[in-house]
Amino acid sequence: MSKPIEHLREHWGSRFGFMLAAAGSAIGLGSLWKFPYVAGDHGGGAFVLVYLLATLFICVPLFICELVMGRATQRGAVEAFSILSRQSQNWKGMGWLALTSTLVVYSYYAVVSGWTLNYVILSLSNFTAGKSPEEIRAVFDLLLKAGGMNLFWQFGFLLLTAAVVWGGVRKGIEHWAKILTPALLAILIALFFYAITMPGFHEALRFLLIPDFSKVTPSGILSAVGLSFFTASLGFGIILTYGSYLRPDENLPSMTVAILGSTLGIALIAALTIFPIVFSFGFSPSEGPGLVFKVLPVLFSQLPAPLLISTLFFLLLVFTALTSTVSLLENMTANCIEQFQWSRKKSIVLSTLAAFMLGVPSALAGSGQLFPSWQPIYNADFFATISTLWDRWFLPLSGLLISIFVGYVMDRQLRDKEFLGSSKASYLLPGWLFLIRYVVPIVLILLILEGTNLVSFDALIHN
Ligand code: TRP
Repeated sequence: MSKPIEHLREHWGSRFGFMLAAAGSAIGLGSLWKFPYVAGDHGGGAFVLVYLLATLFICVPLFICELVMGRATQRGAVEAFSILSRQSQNWKGMGWLALTSTLVVYSYYAVVSGWTLNYVILSLSNFTAGKSPEEIRAVFDLLLKAGGMNLFWQFGFLLLTAAVVWGGVRKGIEHWAKILTPALLAILIALFFYAITMPGFHEALRFLLIPDFSKVTPSGILSAVGLSFFTASLGFGIILTYGSYLRPDENLPSMTVAILGSTLGIALIAALTIFPIVFSFGFSPSEGPGLVFKVLPVLFSQLPAPLLISTLFFLLLVFTALTSTVSLLENMTANCIEQFQWSRKKSIVLSTLAAFMLGVPSALAGSGQLFPSWQPIYNADFFATISTLWDRWFLPLSGLLISIFVGYVMDRQLRDKEFLGSSKASYLLPGWLFLIRYVVPIVLILLILEGTNLVSFDALIHN
């Protein structure tokens, strides 16, 4: 039997603090690293439009589902599924899936986050001085192959995250979110104003804001949905855990719209900062994942004050990754405390160690020091194999199960009461229910079918 909801659970100090922490979790490498290059790959404007629609009609309703579950139970995912399903072992298993997925994502997310830390140090040492563009680009390839360094930076990032989470919800997460999220915004806006002055700004504006519908493909649409989903931090009970620290009188729908609206705004500003630089120097917008780490340093080196601009930019990435890793670690910590009755500190130490150990093959993926035959067997390195597996299978699958759970399984009265909170906007309820019962599950099933190559909608349309 689970214990009654206790009143001792720590809560956010303020609504604003919660919103900054949740936005900090959402705004991460997904918006600043992935969004610009995936939008570039898929033709710009049309992708942005689909991303916007996906945020509104898929992510907003699901985000509310997680908040509803967390606040109703005041527990992390495993207990929340168990309590709300009246102790069904299958649904509790869904909670464990969410928790395991968090560990996996944390383990490889920390590797990429480690690169951002590495690039701050590189920038401070003015690493582009006297190098040709090829030499600057090659630094990233060198880093990928340097296994020991990847381990070092990954471990460093895990420690940084643990230090933030150590202080608890208010003194740790909320306190640091109040510093890091505004700092991130200030850096981004400063760089954005700089980008406005560049000759390529108008081209970037046109590229990102005017949709060219001939570029819309089913796979492009689904990758926009998938990315918006990843960016919103959905599926793994993270928002659920953050929601469990909320007080009963908060209005969930309006907070969700504010959080995801600002996340979308930041992703757009990030793209509008990066693309003017890309266009001004005649680079291709479809550079792929190296866009941020390979192309931008080349460009920074040709701008006035490369040391300052480059350091600021990579510091921005560190902050944004940190507020996201904090949410991943907090999700593991909260659930470990509840499941194993460990202390907070013990939960943090053991979760960090587990993420580090699981992250070792990801950190060593580029160097081939571990599992050298992984690449030839799976046709992708370890890092790419598990990140693709989780992005394509587990993320949409967890989202699907959450929408089904809240839409069909959870107690109706409790669900509706949590949705409404203190708000009188009961007219929103039928719309939300329609989305989570029909629209979200159908779109997520299509996403799973396409993402896992079970069906190719592009090929279906061309036939
Ligand atoms: N949303 C973050 C980003 O865009 C990453 C992230 C944090 C995440 N928590 C998550 C992704 C939970 C999936 C699930 O970078």
